[in-house]
Amino acid sequence: MTVRQSDHPIDPQFLTRWSPRAFDPAEMTEGQVLSLIEAARWAPSASNHQPARFAWGLRGDAGFAAIHDGLMGFNRVWADKAAALIVLASKTFVDKEDGPAANSWHAFDAGASWMSLALQAQAMGLVAHAMGGFEAETLAPALGLPEGYQIHVVVAVGRQGDVADLPEKLQAREMPSLRRPVAEVAARGRFPA
Ligand SMILES: Cc1cc2nc3c(=O)[nH]c(=O)nc-3n(C[C@H](O)[C@H](O)[C@H](O)COP(=O)(O)O)c2cc1C
Repeated sequence: MTVRQSDHPIDPQFLTRWSPRAFDPAEMTEGQVLSLIEAARWAPSASNHQPARFAWGLRGDAGFAAIHDGLMGFNRVWADKAAALIVLASKTFVDKEDGPAANSWHAFDAGASWMSLALQAQAMGLVAHAMGGFEAETLAPALGLPEGYQIHVVVAVGRQGDVADLPEKLQAREMPSLRRPVAEVAARGRFPA
């Protein structure tokens, strides 16, 4: 098992959050999902346009099945055990007096929402795992995504489960990953080479 250590002091929540694939059979309530979305909607956004949108389902309901049907490859194998699947999309434009104008920050703002959701999940004793491996052409019509909106991730949420319940190939990958050192990603007065 890898041990995460920061180069500089930080709040422990940033090191303890990670993206497991093994989920416990425990169910989640609608209220818990709404708490996650509540945290996500308080994320900051450019000009407070709040472009993030969410469609979600609880394991066993039609929404969950529709979202799961839109997952690709190995994501289908493990994400079906999640207690909830949440699709995070964003509105790519803003409504101006003279018509729609592109919102250059929609994806950036959606990313901020994802992180708020993930940290709220952790605060509630849950884990959240984002997936870019989905078929937008399946999910968009199934979930009624309006024109001009873009799906970014499907997020699997639930209580962390037993690694032994994963297929063998995935068991080997079930551990927190590491990060590049601070010195490789940041420099004073310039970008690192
Ligand atoms: C935008 C995005 C797309 C991702 N897509 C997938 C995916 O399709 N399948 C998967 O198993 N993990 C996926 N991940 C999880 C990343 O691989 C994981 O977050 C990364 O390796 C860092 O690990 P950590 O979240 O455990 O710290 C995705 C994460 C993000 C943020």
